[in-house]
Amino acid sequence: MERIDKIIASQGKYSRSDVKSLISKKRVAVDGEIVKSSSVKADPEKSVITIDGIELTVKKFVYLMLNKPKGYVSATEDKEHETVLALVPDEYAGRDIFPAGRLDRDTTGLMIITDDGAMAHNILAPKKHVQKVYHVELDIPVTEEMASGFTEGVELNDGVCKEAGLEITGEYSAKVSLKEGRYHQIKRMFGCFGAKVTELHRLAMGDLWLPEDLAEGECRELTEEELKLLQQL
Ligand code: URA
Repeated sequence: MERIDKIIASQGKYSRSDVKSLISKKRVAVDGEIVKSSSVKADPEKSVITIDGIELTVKKFVYLMLNKPKGYVSATEDKEHETVLALVPDEYAGRDIFPAGRLDRDTTGLMIITDDGAMAHNILAPKKHVQKVYHVELDIPVTEEMASGFTEGVELNDGVCKEAGLEITGEYSAKVSLKEGRYHQIKRMFGCFGAKVTELHRLAMGDLWLPEDLAEGECRELTEEELKLLQQL
């Protein structure tokens, strides 16, 4: 059992003082009974909590998917630039959410934002070797030499990369699959072949693909099926 004000505030939409005011206006009920004090206790998993008669779905954790646009930093705060959290709908703003993993500021595509630290740790742990797939565009044509180099293991200044996949999809574009996530890894790998990455877009993490209908800058909760794909990683 937990205090009702704590349960409601943990959902992110209302602050503790908002909840206090809702309660004093008799707008909150637990199992059909109007709550008269913030210290009333309820079971976050079993009690039916309503605000203005509308049931509150209490979620322990939230799992969001963002189609990251350019210009946002993958962090919870930054002194110079906006972070990806600026793109998260307000209703989650009060939760302790953070981006699970990093994309460079100029990289776009699939990003998971959550408040489930254990799950984030699981998908990011290097020993899990979760595969990430990217669409890449270069300033020079993609070559077979790059593709075989990626398979053999490109040597960077912080060590040889694990085998990576490179499928040529156009004269200047490729699909790259990586099982590591080193700093600026794809840019540095192509740099070894004298190529500059002009566009980088993450398409997938494990079996979870960025849905085509999630527009750039849009952020929504994962469906149950999508969440299962992440939890399987
Ligand atoms: N590799 C990079 O160079 N940048 C990213 O954002 C992701 C992978």
